[in-house]
Amino acid sequence: MSSEAPSSATPSSAAQLAELEGQFRDQATAVSDRAGWEELRLRWVGRKQGLLRSLMGRMKEVPPPERRDYGQGVNRLKKLVEGELEALDQKLRDREQGQERAAAAVDVTLPGRRPALGSLHPVTLIRREIEGIFRELGYTVAEGPEAEDDYHNFEALNFPPDHPARDTQDTFFLENGLLLRTHTSPVQIRTMLARKPPIRVICPGRVYRNDNDLRHSPMFHQVEGLAVAEGITVGDLKGTLQAFIQRLFSADTGVRLRPSFFPFTEPSAEVDITCPFCQGTGEDCKVCSNTGWMEILGSGMVDPRVLEGCGIDPDRYSGFAFGLGIDRVAMIRYGIPNIRMLFDNDLRLLRQVRG
Ligand code: DAH
Repeated sequence: MSSEAPSSATPSSAAQLAELEGQFRDQATAVSDRAGWEELRLRWVGRKQGLLRSLMGRMKEVPPPERRDYGQGVNRLKKLVEGELEALDQKLRDREQGQERAAAAVDVTLPGRRPALGSLHPVTLIRREIEGIFRELGYTVAEGPEAEDDYHNFEALNFPPDHPARDTQDTFFLENGLLLRTHTSPVQIRTMLARKPPIRVICPGRVYRNDNDLRHSPMFHQVEGLAVAEGITVGDLKGTLQAFIQRLFSADTGVRLRPSFFPFTEPSAEVDITCPFCQGTGEDCKVCSNTGWMEILGSGMVDPRVLEGCGIDPDRYSGFAFGLGIDRVAMIRYGIPNIRMLFDNDLRLLRQVRG
């Protein structure tokens, strides 16, 4: 807009006031936005430097006979300026509202936003897969409490009173005398106490140990398996584990039983599989330290003392049991190097492992 200042000489005639009116109209026409309007308002009717105020102040300089006309003229001009400013203000406001509405408008032709899809956790995926395999083999799923008592977690499983697992270094004891189960084996005991053979169950669930490093998390997951019937042998154990492992990994996965010890099985075996990363060759393989084998679970024939303690006649019945870490399998399957990554719930990892 024009910044030309209105004439500063005392406007003593109607003609001069008319000229000012003309100037105002020109400047008003040039206003195109809110800032311009504000500038115009300050210049003409601003309280401090507004032109109309200073015109009033100059009344004294006007010769007395002309003062009345002068006063009336200035007043008329002031009313006109105020009216025009108001009209202009309204026009700008209408335009601003229109712009706001346009900015807020929804473009119905845009494609919709896809809702974020959740997915199952890698541990859940593997647990369900394991359950599916054993269901096909005639097993059912059994569950037990995570807050266990010493009897089910240790005593009935034939742990001697001085066994290191019973130490507070290894086990989380609760204030109410219970403990957080250190394995899923107590569900074997609960199942045998509640049912008569033949028994075929798997027991998946959370377990807890006072351990925390790259390969150990204080909470992790196991699946326990238990089969008790007449005439069950080590051959059944090996055949079942082989069928399971070859379904879980691949049909050409090798399985070997290595003698071991668990208080609740006799004999006991640790089960190794051929390393899924080097296909058992052991060549240049960090995962299996070049051995070609990887330990995957613990197993054995249920100790006769354990059967007896659960009211099952060990002269008539025998059984096998095994315990497997679900997290380990998830790490192998999805190439996750650190167990704690499974529990950080970083969405980037969870998205990669969608089932
Ligand atoms: N309970 C053992 C553990 O947590 C794993 C295990 C070993 C379970 C041998 C079994 C078994 O049922 O027969 O380390």
